Amino acid sequence: MKDSNKKSYDVAVLPGDGVGPEIIREGSKILDAVSGKFGLKFNRINYDFGAERYIRTKEILPDSAIEEFRKADAIYLGAVGDPRVEPGLLEKGLLLKIRFALDQYVNLRPVKLYPGVWTPLKDKGPADINFVVVRENTEGAYCGAGGFLKKGTPDEVAIQEDINTRKGVERIIRFAYAFTEKRGGRKMLTLCDKANVLTYAHDLWRRTFAEVGNEFPGVRKDYAFVDATCMWMVKNPEYFDVIVTCNMFGDIITDLGAVIQGGMGIAAGANLNPEGVSMFEPIHGSAPKYAGKNMINPLAAICAAGMMLETLGEAKAAKAVEDAVIKIVNEGHIKDLAAGKMGMGTSEVGDLVCKFIKNTK
Ligand code: IPM
Ligand code: MG
Repeated sequence: MKDSNKKSYDVAVLPGDGVGPEIIREGSKILDAVSGKFGLKFNRINYDFGAERYIRTKEILPDSAIEEFRKADAIYLGAVGDPRVEPGLLEKGLLLKIRFALDQYVNLRPVKLYPGVWTPLKDKGPADINFVVVRENTEGAYCGAGGFLKKGTPDEVAIQEDINTRKGVERIIRFAYAFTEKRGGRKMLTLCDKANVLTYAHDLWRRTFAEVGNEFPGVRKDYAFVDATCMWMVKNPEYFDVIVTCNMFGDIITDLGAVIQGGMGIAAGANLNPEGVSMFEPIHGSAPKYAGKNMINPLAAICAAGMMLETLGEAKAAKAVEDAVIKIVNEGHIKDLAAGKMGMGTSEVGDLVCKFIKNTK
């Protein structure tokens, strides 16, 4: 973790594709607003990686950029993906490359329903939907290990390895326990796995979970299979406090989580390397059909900026951002979180968040 007394921060900014530039513009306004209010300084270094640059130069993300990111205090990412580029190319070459190269082994995704936000879950409110998913972010099926045999023939074989290392499993589980302890919730950590079928990989997770748990006697250990986790997230989300899970399951359940907390308009996530440089991003994608129309909701990117502040140790500034977001959704300033239905434009939402931050006492 970086020195939390440092008041000047270097942030590598990657707006990316589609709506990325618009939402990052609003998020950057928010960083400027908190700077003024809380005596901070953000030196933003802009990078134009993404589809446009790839189409122009065939370059996705050079290793030299990774070396520059290493020197930053944080990375702020908009979105990647473009219909003109083969699916997976930018996702793997940019987003996953950063996560892996900078060893951002924690993907932290809060699932928190703010007051005033509509949830598709009947009779559930903010008191019921408030948990955090700690997703492993550097291993599992995401490693890219595998290959084809006899590709394109009727005898084709495709293998995609699910890699789980003791070190990788142990560090994410230890982070999750410590996080659960510190969070001050019900202090229950649920291991979400499929140990009834993946009897090798998830046996390793179960054993590690039990062993590391001995270091945290104050945290209750809980187990749920991933299919049951999906059911409970819909039926009784109030059951959960913190969930720890592997990369692939974490990917899937956090989209479900985003929907129950009000949708992609508000869901944010952090890719953390607790010993290095972390990256903050909205969970939604590049939404090309809304690009450049001032229609997309910037609140998810703004919440990601809030998570950046929290991680940098600027708790007061982070709280000011969250309070401003809550004010917007709870006092009916915004009609709906969905793109084009907000009753105002992307930049107006950003301006309003700035105004509320400036008025913070
Ligand atoms: C996410 C996204 C990514 C993932 C994609 C874009 C590679 O879905 O951040 O959840 O699967 O991790
Ligand atoms: Mg996903």
